[in-house]
Amino acid sequence: MAKVKTEIGNDFCPQALFLYGTKQEDGQPHFGLFCWFSYYHSAEGLGVMTCIGEGKQTKDLISKNGVFSANLVSEQLLPLADYYGCTYGRTTPDKMKYLPAVEWGEVLDVPTIAESPVSFELEVKKTIPMGDGSDIFLCLIRNVTKDEKLLDTGVPFTERLIQAAPVLAPGESTYSSIDGRYLGKWGEPMQSLADAGK
Ligand SMILES: Cc1cc2nc3c(=O)[nH]c(=O)nc-3n(C[C@H](O)[C@H](O)[C@H](O)COP(=O)(O)O)c2cc1C
Repeated sequence: MAKVKTEIGNDFCPQALFLYGTKQEDGQPHFGLFCWFSYYHSAEGLGVMTCIGEGKQTKDLISKNGVFSANLVSEQLLPLADYYGCTYGRTTPDKMKYLPAVEWGEVLDVPTIAESPVSFELEVKKTIPMGDGSDIFLCLIRNVTKDEKLLDTGVPFTERLIQAAPVLAPGESTYSSIDGRYLGKWGEPMQSLADAGK
């Protein structure tokens, strides 16, 4: 098997998807979909690093509030998550016409998603502007909530992982399940929301 030089990109390096929850000025929740997300460790504890590209409502609210939630996207949440990822909040005032079951953080004043198997409450510690509109946020995880079914250590971890059903973005603008099933192209799962509304 020979390796060949390709364009720079991260296809075949699956990323988990998260819905970032922020509180709007009127107190209502706002959600956007993100995958440039990983972890770091500091003396304060486990942290999250995330990159948000060009200006968008989620970034406006994170910069203003200094806190947000990151909610792991499950297969059940995918149609809504896809909609939140393909709908630009700044120019879509009624973007939140579709809402999940919203809860509020236990430690931080951030909206979280009840159906999400894992939710992080995040406090921004450092913002690194890249100078081209892109920003990297380093955030301390102030609280984690998990679906209690995932905590039964009598069940093998891989079985609980399948049960959590996280959705991956493995490349070529597609969604995949954790066990390798194709779940559609970006922009496709959201179509079931419109169909349900007809
Ligand atoms: C699968 C997927 C992953 C995405 N990941 C990111 C990301 O990591 N960073 C980013 O800046 N935008 C990402 N986006 C784009 C945002 O979701 C999009 O800009 C959306 O409009 C954000 O919501 P808002 O405009 O309400 O803030 C992603 C979109 C999709 C469909």
